[in-house]
Amino acid sequence: MKYKSQKVAYMFFALSMVLLVLQIVYGFIMGFAHAGFDGLHEFIPFNTATATHKNLLVVWLLSGFMGAAYYIIPEESQNELVSVKLALLQFWSLAIVAVVAVIGFHFNWWEGRKFLEIPRPLDYLVVVNVLLFLGIILVTLFKGKQRTTTALVLAMGLFFAALLYLPGMIDFNNQSVDSFFRWWVVHLWVEGVWELIMGGILAYLLIKLTGVDRELIEKWLYVIVGLTFLSGILGTGHHYYYMGAPEYWLMIGGIFSALEPLAFLGMALFALAMYRKGEKNHPNKIALYWTLGTAIMSFAGAGLLGIAHTIPSVNLYTHGTLVTAMHGHLAFWGAYGMMVLAIIVYAMPNLTGRKLYDRPGAHYAFWLSNIGMIGMTTAFAAAGVAQVYLERKVGMSFMDAQKAIEVHFWVLIGAAILFTIGILFFVSNFFKHGMPTDEALEANS
Ligand code: HEM
Ligand code: HEM
Ligand SMILES: [Fe+2]
Repeated sequence: MKYKSQKVAYMFFALSMVLLVLQIVYGFIMGFAHAGFDGLHEFIPFNTATATHKNLLVVWLLSGFMGAAYYIIPEESQNELVSVKLALLQFWSLAIVAVVAVIGFHFNWWEGRKFLEIPRPLDYLVVVNVLLFLGIILVTLFKGKQRTTTALVLAMGLFFAALLYLPGMIDFNNQSVDSFFRWWVVHLWVEGVWELIMGGILAYLLIKLTGVDRELIEKWLYVIVGLTFLSGILGTGHHYYYMGAPEYWLMIGGIFSALEPLAFLGMALFALAMYRKGEKNHPNKIALYWTLGTAIMSFAGAGLLGIAHTIPSVNLYTHGTLVTAMHGHLAFWGAYGMMVLAIIVYAMPNLTGRKLYDRPGAHYAFWLSNIGMIGMTTAFAAAGVAQVYLERKVGMSFMDAQKAIEVHFWVLIGAAILFTIGILFFVSNFFKHGMPTDEALEANS
């Protein structure tokens, strides 16, 4: 690796770490509120906490994807980033938009549409920021010596993710129409184009960590891209069941979204097959854990827990309950959270020359965070199933049902503590690597 501009990835990874920790703080605020202790209500009401929790999630993941792209694209295209100065400008503007958005939520400056709460003026700044990012990545890629399938899939995912931000910025005065297009952003991101980003990063890591031939790994990538588009686009229909959209969506959404787990299953089988085929002698074993872990946990969280509530007759009861939160946590964590942590764990020793992957802390981070997240998912599942039964079968009021399920949130908090200890190990290991250096990059070339 002799591309010094890769160092810029460090800034994005560091931002990602800080925002992840902050996201967790807001998770605890909501966990306690659900358990009946909403002491911060006057300063941080639930709507503020939930908007902050989810938007911080999206920004730390996007910052991780951007860092991944700045790290991977120079190497894959055999070209330095066209401008490190512009990349740094893009970094600082991203960080400023994130900070302003989070502060704004605390002063009720928000739009009230789940996941797209960022107010409109900031949306325009996001667009400028992402255009700058894409410009740097695409020019670097197309001026480079080679354009690998891995790099193209990653760049295509990033490009379409940017494009799909736009439907969320159109003004509608009808709530069903607004909701219809909100899903073009939220669903087509996580169950469409972000899967391409994930496929690209996964392929890159598998090439590096298993030593299997690029040709073979990239052939699988085509299969995954194909399965994603086949199921994910019309799978959007699983959000159109009972929100005022035409009835045919029940059938289309049901059938195509039930096929979506195939793409995640494909990724899990692919990663495991490459692992078995590979020479397995890469010293950074923990990066391999995170990589295979991503493939497996995303199938569990997105695939299995997705299909658990995607059939219209089930979704009629589970819609918008804690069953959704159960799936939302394991899916986001397994697919995108773990993917970002995998590329960070892989890249940091190469960027800094410090090989901290054998430290016990690196292993605690992996196991505690994953066991904690499985525990949290289980607590949400128990709370969600009880909520569905009490509220939608027995006919209890929303608040009475919430009161009845408070106990599950103590289990959630317990599991979340394990998860958080794992993350703190990860973050402290990250910062112990120190800053990236040219010498480290030279030594790895
Ligand atoms: C990594 C991929 C995925 C992620 C990150 C993810 C995450 C989420 C999140 C956060 C929500 C709540 C959205 C909102 O209310 O605004 C949601 C809803 C939903 N997801 Fe997923 N999901 C993924 C994949 C899947 C798959 C593959 C399926 C189907 C097999 C699925 C089925 C559903 C359904 C049916 C809902 C609607 C729940 C409701 O009616 O309240 N998801 N997902
Ligand atoms: C200490 C850790 C965490 C705790 C205690 C926590 C707790 C919570 C709570 C209580 C909610 C609100 C549920 C509701 O009433 O609607 C929530 C929402 C959410 N959290 Fe977390 N969370 C934590 C970490 C995470 C992480 C690491 C991720 C992603 C990787 C995540 C993703 C989400 C998502 C996507 C939602 C929205 C769920 C939905 O659409 O229904 N959380 N979280
Ligand atoms: Fe969806």
